[in-house]
Amino acid sequence: MLRIGSLNLKNWLVMAPLAGITNLPFRIIVKNLGAGLVTTEMISAKGLTLGHQRTFKYLKSHPDERPLSVQIFGPDPDVMARAAQIAIEKGADIIDINMGCPARKVVKTGSGAHLLRVPQTAKEIVSAVRRVCSVPLTVKIRTGWSPDQPVALEIARIIEDCGADAITIHPRFATQGFSGQADWSIIAKTKEHLKIPVIGNGDVFSPSLALEMKRQTACDGVMIGRGAVGNPWIFMQALEMAQGLEATPPGLSERRALIMEHFRLLTLDMGEPRASKVMRGLLLRYTKGLPNSSRFRGTFTGIKSLESLMSALDSYFTTLEKCSNSSNVQTTRSCRLAS
Ligand SMILES: Cc1cc2nc3c(=O)[nH]c(=O)nc-3n(C[C@H](O)[C@H](O)[C@H](O)COP(=O)(O)O)c2cc1C
Repeated sequence: MLRIGSLNLKNWLVMAPLAGITNLPFRIIVKNLGAGLVTTEMISAKGLTLGHQRTFKYLKSHPDERPLSVQIFGPDPDVMARAAQIAIEKGADIIDINMGCPARKVVKTGSGAHLLRVPQTAKEIVSAVRRVCSVPLTVKIRTGWSPDQPVALEIARIIEDCGADAITIHPRFATQGFSGQADWSIIAKTKEHLKIPVIGNGDVFSPSLALEMKRQTACDGVMIGRGAVGNPWIFMQALEMAQGLEATPPGLSERRALIMEHFRLLTLDMGEPRASKVMRGLLLRYTKGLPNSSRFRGTFTGIKSLESLMSALDSYFTTLEKCSNSSNVQTTRSCRLAS
């Protein structure tokens, strides 16, 4: 279990904020499959305080996904504090401050990972948000801006002293983007020196790696990002492994049903035209590694309507199921033979 401030989460696994991906449908899917906590993508504090409708859409939530962590970003302590209050009024169970985003359009405004270069501003932001924040407060950081400034521990201590309830570390420098490997020793080092819970993040692409990160770093929680896209079962599998059980891979019918459910939720949330576009991207991930998936992808790339997309998916899975024997290996082999 993971406790963040006054909140007891049902387990130690956290879905990472992923811009463009962790919308309400995605969050409901991973929550149902075992994630202990889900997070919105980063939301502009300025957009919230200015009442921008487009920004407010990111706060849309549903009881099935609770507790919900809402991540905000911005360079200004007062604006961040007001945004946190707005998010709480709209139902946020946790406020998370983004201090790790390396995207140019974010850092050039003085937000995201830029804050790792200005510890005083980082401190003012966390303090200002803490003063008004009636729910648990967390902060997500990277190791530092660049390898000559490994500030994770220094910033983490500031964040703890300012009253945050937990910290998440993605141990890469902002200048690295996603290149190289996440340096889990930074998570271990931070955990050693902090009293508040430390959530480790970075390169957990399989359920066993979630357990391995916990073992290697003694972190309190593990946050999974890219590893859950196309494989939301990773949470359930990690929980199974943590209980000493074997991780159960999803069968074809389970996979098909989940994709359909994801599509249904997306359509409800954003309407058919936009949902079809998002689905095309997700299908690439959901079918990765399945037999003949590249040929299947070829069939749906030009498809615009939801109905045609569904029927392409249906016939792909029907073929797979026909080919399927008892194990995945046999499925792969028999389908290759059939193709
Ligand atoms: C497409 C994408 C969007 C992301 N959006 C956010 C975001 O909105 N807020 C944030 O703090 N991190 C964001 N991240 C970083 C992830 O939360 C996470 O820290 C990173 O992907 C490393 O974890 P992973 O190796 O498990 O994916 C994003 C990453 C990706 C790939």
